[in-house]
Amino acid sequence: MSVVIRPSRLTDSEELGSVHVAAWQAAYRGIMPDDYLDGLDPVANARRRRRNFDDPSRTGTELAAELDGRVVGFSYFGPPRDEVPDGWGELWVINLHPGVWRRGIGTRLFAAAVDGLRDAGYRHGYLWVVADNQRAVEFYRRQGWVSDGATKIDQRFGPPVTEIRCSARLTDQQ
Ligand SMILES: CC(C)(COP(=O)(O)OP(=O)(O)OC[C@H]1O[C@@H](n2cnc3c(N)ncnc32)[C@H](O)[C@@H]1OP(=O)(O)O)[C@@H](O)C(=O)NCCC(=O)NCCS
Repeated sequence: MSVVIRPSRLTDSEELGSVHVAAWQAAYRGIMPDDYLDGLDPVANARRRRRNFDDPSRTGTELAAELDGRVVGFSYFGPPRDEVPDGWGELWVINLHPGVWRRGIGTRLFAAAVDGLRDAGYRHGYLWVVADNQRAVEFYRRQGWVSDGATKIDQRFGPPVTEIRCSARLTDQQ
């Protein structure tokens, strides 16, 4: 199994659109409404990706994970979208196609995103995860990112879902 983590490309848009939708439909079934999940459209997702790829206001960095030459996942990280202390950067998203879960690829992609945050000068990392998404909570815990007590209610996907913030220090410096 050959895994490569690299910056995403415009030509990844279709594959990433499919990965994104498949990951959400598998991860959030039973947590978010079926109507919402079944309505997610890989073609529309890919179209949005193509449109946003060269957007100069885009501030984050996206990495793609390839398994044997096929794009199977992505992560996106960058400046915080919340009021957080100076020096905190955010992991906005990490998604893998469900067909490749639990093979260590998420760990590789996560490590590359953490390196990216560190290289960008962030000393602390944080992310939001849906509290009922136990698979992801457990994954992050394994990476050393644990709940720091902050929570929020997200209403973007239909009925409100509770999200918890997980965070970790990225450097020895405070
Ligand atoms: C979360 C996600 C990125 C993990 O990627 P992955 O490649 O499956 O994870 P890894 O194989 O690297 O797992 C590393 C460790 O995390 C923990 N872990 C991963 N999946 C787990 C699960 N289903 N149950 C319990 N622990 C799990 C384990 O400790 C695992 O180590 P082990 O396999 O040696 O026991 C992937 O499951 C995913 O994309 N999920 C859907 C999208 C999502 O929920 N993203 C997060 C949104 S905030």
